[in-house]
Amino acid sequence: MLRACQLTKTFGGLSVLLDVSLDFRPGEVHALMGENGAGKSTLMKLLAGLYRPDGGEIQWRGRSVRFATPHDALTQGIAMVHQELMPIPDLTVAENLMLGMEPVNAWGWVDHAELHRQATTWLRQLGTDLETSRPMRTLSVAQMQVVEIAKALARQADVILMDEPTAALSDHEVSALFKAIATLRQRGVTVVYTTHKMDEVFRLADRISVLRDGHLVATKPAGEFTPASLITQMVGRELAQVFPPVTTTPGEVILTVTQLTREPAYRDISFTLRRGEVLGLAGLMGAGRTEVVSAIYGLQPADAGAIRLLGKPLVLTSPADGLTAGIGMLTEDRKGSGIIPAMSVQHNLTLAALRHYCRGAVVDASAEKAVTRQAAADFAIKSSGPAQAIQQLSGGNQQKVLLARALLAAPEVLILDEPTRGIDIGAKAEIYALIGRLSAQGTAVLLVSSELPEILALTHRILVLRQGELSAELNPRQTNQEEILRHAMPR
Ligand SMILES: Nc1ncnc2c1ncn2[C@@H]1O[C@H](COP(=O)(O)OP(=O)(O)OP(=O)(O)O)[C@@H](O)[C@H]1O
Ligand SMILES: [Mg+2]
Repeated sequence: MLRACQLTKTFGGLSVLLDVSLDFRPGEVHALMGENGAGKSTLMKLLAGLYRPDGGEIQWRGRSVRFATPHDALTQGIAMVHQELMPIPDLTVAENLMLGMEPVNAWGWVDHAELHRQATTWLRQLGTDLETSRPMRTLSVAQMQVVEIAKALARQADVILMDEPTAALSDHEVSALFKAIATLRQRGVTVVYTTHKMDEVFRLADRISVLRDGHLVATKPAGEFTPASLITQMVGRELAQVFPPVTTTPGEVILTVTQLTREPAYRDISFTLRRGEVLGLAGLMGAGRTEVVSAIYGLQPADAGAIRLLGKPLVLTSPADGLTAGIGMLTEDRKGSGIIPAMSVQHNLTLAALRHYCRGAVVDASAEKAVTRQAAADFAIKSSGPAQAIQQLSGGNQQKVLLARALLAAPEVLILDEPTRGIDIGAKAEIYALIGRLSAQGTAVLLVSSELPEILALTHRILVLRQGELSAELNPRQTNQEEILRHAMPR
């Protein structure tokens, strides 16, 4: 159906894909695996007509093709769901979904009733009852992701390229997506899929191809890989341990949250956090986890309740306040409120701690550069240098810059909202080790994560949020995924 023949792509003299040859068959789910920056998104963008290859060619139904634009590829039957979402914020859900294929009435006007009807049908296929008249900008990241996938379904393409489609989805939406993929496969549609969630690959993929540093290192039926062999292929070495053991004992209470309430998002949230403690916050998408932590770092203050840090009441009206008070934050929404896309890696990194690099009113550029180089080394951030625009980095590497930024200010309390989203297995292990080190140094960590294995392995205590209320406090050594989910499910 679709074939990559010796594809090569370079950016500024750097080869990010080299001589990659792969074929994609009708009705297969083909997983592309690899570390952050391995070239997965780049390969997909070549196939989707977003980038032009510097060498090699793409064959479509046996003929060599050159797509001038993504629209070209789309009309041929190749659609892509992007890793970094690109919705048009002021259009409605239906308008975004049906963009460029709006149904018209006899007078040639857009038939809005029909538009919403069709959009609803596609969304239902993904098991969601999202209102089609809502403006895109009011949606959560997860909801935008669902719309983006529905958009590809609506195009009825023969090949759908999905770049980390489940990165922001809840379990419920993930199973709906998997059902939709099963249907597509039966219809003979080719699904090319990337993910950093190892369990997904083995549930979904017929074949797996592994990219490492822009080279294709393996392509085989999924059954011929084991999780361990796949990881070894991806990282090029054996990974000794993914999760470090929890060894520290939490100290005195440093953060006290009392009866925090902001209707309708959450109510009556009370808990404490100790020095060196890693506290997990589990719950389904929409349970209010992100909203609760946003109040604690000052993004979206609560209507009622109190937060005390080291005994002193905290009144935060902005993340800058939070930072000054000693609360660091890694946001869930990398694109919306995390990075400044066009700015350099260096500036994105030092943004929060800029006052440390100032002599009077002047930024000490060499100090700033030195810090950036150090962070790049500590976190294994892959970039062409401190001056590269952050939007050119692979998704996972952008996340590492943000994490490094949150740590530069040496916070007392560190809030991590989905810190390993979109991060490869090797880098995940690095981040887990880092959380362990921070905890040993006495930093209190509040970890919001949808990856239950991560919450279970890393924390001292787990709080479960259900529909805006605390439904359980669990000991991670004495609980399991099923019990957490039971407390998380709406009643
Ligand atoms: N527009 C661009 N300009 C310069 N370099 C780029 C550009 N797009 C990608 N790169 C570089 O190409 C390499 C491969 O990036 P790509 O996004 O394909 O990685 P990936 O495998 O999708 O990683 P991730 O798992 O983090 O999403 C990276 O080193 C990245 O910095
Ligand atoms: Mg990518």
